[in-house]
Amino acid sequence: MIISRQFSFRPFILALLIVSTFSSKALHLFQHATSLPQSRLILFFPTFFIQEAVLWTVACFVLYRLSGNKCLSVIGNVVTGIISALTFVLAASQIGFYMVTGSEVRWDAATSVGNDPEGRKLMLSGLKSFLAASTLLLFLSWLCTPGLSTILNHWLSALFPIRSTDKADEEALLATAKGAFRANSIIQFWTAGAVIITSFLWLVRPQVPYSHISGAIPFTFFGALGPKSASLQVAGDFDFPLQKLIGEEYWEAPNGHFKGWAPGTKPMSMNANSRPEWASGHLPAGFQRWNESKKEKSPNHDMRKNETSTIRYNPVHDPLRITNLDQNVVEPLAQALKNHEIPINHIVFVMMESARKDIFPFQAGSSLHQQILSSHESADAETIQKLNSTLSRLTPVAEKLTGEQSGFSSDGDEPQTVWSDGVKNGMGGINIHGLLTGSSLSFKSAIINHCGTGPLPVDFMDEVHEEIYQPCIMQILDLFNQRKGPLPQDQTKESSEFHDRNWTSIFLQSITGLFDDQNILNEQMGFHKALYKEQIENISAPYYHKDMEEINYFGYAERETYPYLRQIIDETIANGQRLFLSHFTSTTHHPWATPSKFHKEKYFADGLMGKHEDMNNYLNSVRYVDTWLGDILQVLDDTGISNETLVVLVGDHGQAFHEDSPVSGTYENGHISNFRIPLVFRHPLLPRIQITANATSMSLVPTLLDLLVQTKSLNEEDSDIAVDLMNEYEGQSLIRPYQAMYNGRQAWNFGIINAGGTMLSVGSAAVPYRLILPLSSDFEFVFSNLDTDPDEKSSLRAWSIDELSSRVENEHGDKAVQWVFDAEQVGRWWVEERKRLWNHH
Ligand SMILES: *[C@@H]1O[C@H](CO)[C@@H](O)[C@H](O)[C@H]1NC(C)=O
Ligand SMILES: *[C@@H]1O[C@H](CO)[C@@H](O)[C@H](O)[C@H]1NC(C)=O
Ligand SMILES: *[C@@H]1O[C@H](CO)[C@@H](O)[C@H](O)[C@H]1NC(C)=O
Ligand SMILES: *[C@@H]1O[C@H](CO)[C@@H](O)[C@H](O)[C@H]1NC(C)=O
Ligand SMILES: *[C@@H]1O[C@H](CO)[C@@H](O)[C@H](O)[C@H]1NC(C)=O
Ligand SMILES: *[C@@H]1O[C@H](CO)[C@@H](O)[C@H](O)[C@H]1NC(C)=O
Ligand SMILES: *[C@@H]1O[C@H](CO)[C@@H](O)[C@H](O)[C@H]1NC(C)=O
Repeated sequence: MIISRQFSFRPFILALLIVSTFSSKALHLFQHATSLPQSRLILFFPTFFIQEAVLWTVACFVLYRLSGNKCLSVIGNVVTGIISALTFVLAASQIGFYMVTGSEVRWDAATSVGNDPEGRKLMLSGLKSFLAASTLLLFLSWLCTPGLSTILNHWLSALFPIRSTDKADEEALLATAKGAFRANSIIQFWTAGAVIITSFLWLVRPQVPYSHISGAIPFTFFGALGPKSASLQVAGDFDFPLQKLIGEEYWEAPNGHFKGWAPGTKPMSMNANSRPEWASGHLPAGFQRWNESKKEKSPNHDMRKNETSTIRYNPVHDPLRITNLDQNVVEPLAQALKNHEIPINHIVFVMMESARKDIFPFQAGSSLHQQILSSHESADAETIQKLNSTLSRLTPVAEKLTGEQSGFSSDGDEPQTVWSDGVKNGMGGINIHGLLTGSSLSFKSAIINHCGTGPLPVDFMDEVHEEIYQPCIMQILDLFNQRKGPLPQDQTKESSEFHDRNWTSIFLQSITGLFDDQNILNEQMGFHKALYKEQIENISAPYYHKDMEEINYFGYAERETYPYLRQIIDETIANGQRLFLSHFTSTTHHPWATPSKFHKEKYFADGLMGKHEDMNNYLNSVRYVDTWLGDILQVLDDTGISNETLVVLVGDHGQAFHEDSPVSGTYENGHISNFRIPLVFRHPLLPRIQITANATSMSLVPTLLDLLVQTKSLNEEDSDIAVDLMNEYEGQSLIRPYQAMYNGRQAWNFGIINAGGTMLSVGSAAVPYRLILPLSSDFEFVFSNLDTDPDEKSSLRAWSIDELSSRVENEHGDKAVQWVFDAEQVGRWWVEERKRLWNHH
């Protein structure tokens, strides 16, 4: 059949509107179908289309019934055309976003990303799927144009018959009047019936989740642009839910550096007695809470009234805090510390973009390995063997850093170019297993990693407008600098003990520093100096070269920072300083592009263009970054500082792919593969220790301080300060036995899910359960048991906590249900408490 027809404006506009809204709703329903009881889904089905039905009817009316008034008709056509075009763009974006990530667009988040120039580049990376979706929608609209407008017009004429004034028409009408009247009344009858039934269903259905499910573009879009709807929680003081665990019988008195524990007492500001001796004189930024008590004592500060009512964190009043600093350092470390010196003069802190624990290192027999093998189902043994040997060379540096073997019965033909580690057998440092990130949004994670602070559970980086409620490492190092003053007369920069030298803190990355206000955050966290793409691509930069290759929308590959890394280390040594260098890797970010000269492997059978394309690209970028980590360690060897440098390697968050979960990426996706991250404290003179702790990255800062103290890498005064500060953080030290439970209290683990304010991951070191807690009514509750389902292949989902708990009870028993109720309450309390501690209003 050949379709040839004239293009007509009004029917096409109508068809475009209907096809766009309908496809958008169909996709929306499909994404939520599994979390709803089927009977309810069928029962309330008609109510899901109320907004669309109204929109279509009004559009049809405006397009076809305003023709009496020429001016009104033109305006109506134009307005309908604009709304239809907007709806089409929104629907295409929604479908395109789904094709890339498997999840739902949120228009409020999209508009904030769109306001950020670097964010727009991120959005453009989805252009291909947007265009594909638009083409599809346009084609469908074109196909449906004649049919849809005929049907709708017919229906509309039946409902609202037109009184024609035309003579000829009148005659024609008279002839068919009887039949038409009958047909019209049937349509009217059914329409009225449908409207009544649907309205009734609409009145009786529950708000959550059906309001969210019924939302239709463009209404949801305009809704998101409008003022933010109030969140589920009420503002104000939130009492801690598990009151019987914080009763007076559990309180503890201060003891040495331990500040005591007495939650429930009125949070008071620190009095002069509890203020440590070091907290006098001028304090660097980050130490505001030790500054305040002084202010209160001087009466002439009335004008600062508002400031004194600022909320501060106080470990004594933290109902969740469990300390393990009273425990002994783990045995192999204690032994080594007795036997030889382990100097930490410098610290190189590498935060690794999207680093999953299961590829650090990649291991034979892992679930990922199984998936790769099964994509090669029909291959012969020789191909598989070759594949195995290719895979055994994926992360050789990570193997050396962690001391974990890849487990391949390897042929051992490691490429000559791989960094070779000179450490003795049984040495190399501490490798942590079981760690989860505290946030799947990179820069919130950076705050946890550098400051030991729980970030704000709100969308995006509002933290840059507030005070960080704990001192960051860089600020602690500044405090050390301040206390020391100039070198004693009899010492020079070169001859001084490193303990008496000043620290310098530098941040280095090869991508833009302007995305999400990262540059502001870094300044706020206390870095003395930061180098980003913007500095290294400056034509007058010292290592600028013409053929610098941008590999993704954020900037360059890490290798571009190599000469700067060398320069920073050389200068630090020459200046007689101690280095704290923080480096953020980036190639492992979407779209996982590698430099053009980098050889790309095909790990999956259909790796380069097929359904495993993303994962395959990711694995290649992982291999690239592994090589780069080798380069960093080589620089430490070459400059002769490796034996006195602690290298901390930590993932900012994991990364879920289609191979792991139905929704890929970190955005509004609570899947466990977004949370498992590596953490390594590498030092050639530290014994090789494998530690398992079901903790989050909140433990990083206290552990780092603990290591500096235990290795006697600080002078006496600094060491005292560090021991004191360790007792101020919420996390436990990972070089001491982790306390999963204490006096009935669990060591809770929280994870803020990208973009921050919509869902929270709640877990605990004491149980294998995990709850994804929705922070707005647009999301579901999700429960999993990591003992029986470590990869979260069959999580339970529900729209209310009661519905979820009955499912949990059926499958996991009473203990799990009780935990779910506790977790929900503790999670909600934690969210409000973070906002309070950040003084976020
Ligand atoms: C501490 O207080 C002093 C004087 O009020 C002020 O100059 C300084 O900036 C404050 N320091 C911090 C870290 O807030
Ligand atoms: C104190 O807070 C009030 C209201 O919150 C505000 O109007 C006033 O300007 C503040 N005063 C100072 C000194 O910041
Ligand atoms: C490849 O590695 C897997 C996991 O170690 C092993 O089971 C399999 O036998 C290996 N295949 C070949 C051909 O070496
Ligand atoms: C260390 O830094 C402090 C200020 O931060 C300065 O007063 C002192 O002179 C410095 N000491 C050395 C040895 O550079
Ligand atoms: C490049 O660096 C020079 C010298 O540091 C500076 O003056 C100039 O503003 C920079 N240019 C850009 C585009 O940032
Ligand atoms: C590091 O220390 C070990 C053990 O003391 C020693 O064998 C090695 O040569 C040192 N490496 C460097 C680069 O100084
Ligand atoms: C951590 O959690 C896992 C999964 O629930 C459990 O199997 C393991 O025993 C826990 N490890 C520790 C050290 O508590």
